[in-house]
Amino acid sequence: MPRPGNSAASRDIAYQVHGYTNLRKHQEKGPLIITGGKGVRVTDDAGNTYIEGLAGLWCTALGFDEPRLVEAATRALKKLPYYHGFAHRTADVTIDLAEKLIGIAPVPLSKVLFANSGSEANDLAIKLIWYYNNALGRPRKKKIISRVRAYHGITVATASLTGLKPNHNDFDLPIARILHGDCPHHYRFGEPGESEEQFASRLADNLDKLIEAEGPDTVAAFFAEPVMGAGGVIVPPATYFEKIQKVLKKHDVLLVADEVICGFCRTGNLWGSQTYNLRPDMISCAKALSSAYMPIAALMISEPIFQAMVRESDKLGLFGHGSTYAGHPVAAAVALETLDIYRERDILGHVRRVAPRLQQGLRRFAGHPLVGEVRGVGLLGALELVKDKKTKAAFEPATGVGAYFHDRARDEGLLIRNMIDVIGICPPLIIGEDDIDETLGCLERALAATLAWIEKNRVTAG
Ligand SMILES: Cc1ncc(COP(=O)(O)O)c(C=O)c1O
Repeated sequence: MPRPGNSAASRDIAYQVHGYTNLRKHQEKGPLIITGGKGVRVTDDAGNTYIEGLAGLWCTALGFDEPRLVEAATRALKKLPYYHGFAHRTADVTIDLAEKLIGIAPVPLSKVLFANSGSEANDLAIKLIWYYNNALGRPRKKKIISRVRAYHGITVATASLTGLKPNHNDFDLPIARILHGDCPHHYRFGEPGESEEQFASRLADNLDKLIEAEGPDTVAAFFAEPVMGAGGVIVPPATYFEKIQKVLKKHDVLLVADEVICGFCRTGNLWGSQTYNLRPDMISCAKALSSAYMPIAALMISEPIFQAMVRESDKLGLFGHGSTYAGHPVAAAVALETLDIYRERDILGHVRRVAPRLQQGLRRFAGHPLVGEVRGVGLLGALELVKDKKTKAAFEPATGVGAYFHDRARDEGLLIRNMIDVIGICPPLIIGEDDIDETLGCLERALAATLAWIEKNRVTAG
């Protein structure tokens, strides 16, 4: 291998592998190197400043320079830089965080298990669902239903739950016992003339049929993000969760709410489960739990699940799960401080006050020739770019319209995420109305530049 040059970009190309890139393109293009952050903005190594329109990866809720989180981490590092949760031991601060989470859970849940990422928390949920059904003497009840376009992570099991082809292709996924049901996206999958309610009824009916066909004694759980994030910010259609939950109850199938993006005020309530009236048996959360300043995730479980685990571990002699960093005292201290800041500064009230500015602002683009659908809730939104508004025809993926838009938004000073041609927006929760307006201005100019490029190059429909 040739020796890399001295620039950070060439050293990056020489030494790092970047997820969610075309690896060959990355070798040519190199990284955007971010060197600092302040409020809702980050700065690159050339001194350019951007609004972080996706809060990093849907996570830096309190922005990029919250001193209280830095101080909480520093205090925790000085007091007890590490302890673990194995063998009847724990750090005091980890107990405090568990108590706090159970206290704010949207439904009665009983216990918390910590992890270091959303993927790990969901992976653990799968393990516990299997453990639970073994404890109940139902060894066949193990299949888990996720949904097309779901995103639940990248471990072997959670990438299997993820309903996106690029997370499966050539990784030999999904594994057995994972099923994918309908994606609840009315704009894409609703039939002509079908209302949201009718669409929701059809999906619930399909779920019922799927469970019947598989055998209800073989289906253990259903995973759902209240709003699907990385699959394209898909807001559930009216009455969807009400109808889905009836089907799950009928077949004694557990519901796991993946609140990794929606948790902690994002949708205009503390939990996405409150926004859409979910009554889950387990909740996973991460990201805004610590405003992403430290890696930490949590899985909350119901009392009946815990009681079954107690019986099973007593029978086996050990609950054979744990990891070195789970419930890390520094991460737990930062998460506790984050939750305190949400409450003290009424971040939820702030989100409710400013979200209409974003949602109404985005909806102003609904008439734009490139915008097929505008959707979102709270401080989460998306623009779906299409070739033909009438037929909803998408662009041929190879044309890279979403990627082009992404680069033009970046030129305008806004970092967003394009999920193919869906433009995701998820700013830090602390964003003010002025910065929402600036975000909307950047989007408007990026749309204009993208339309001009399409017209110039006569980009064709897929
Ligand atoms: C809804 C959801 N679940 C799980 C995950 C996986 O979390 P992590 O990237 O921390 O493993 C993500 C990540 O974006 C997510 O959006």
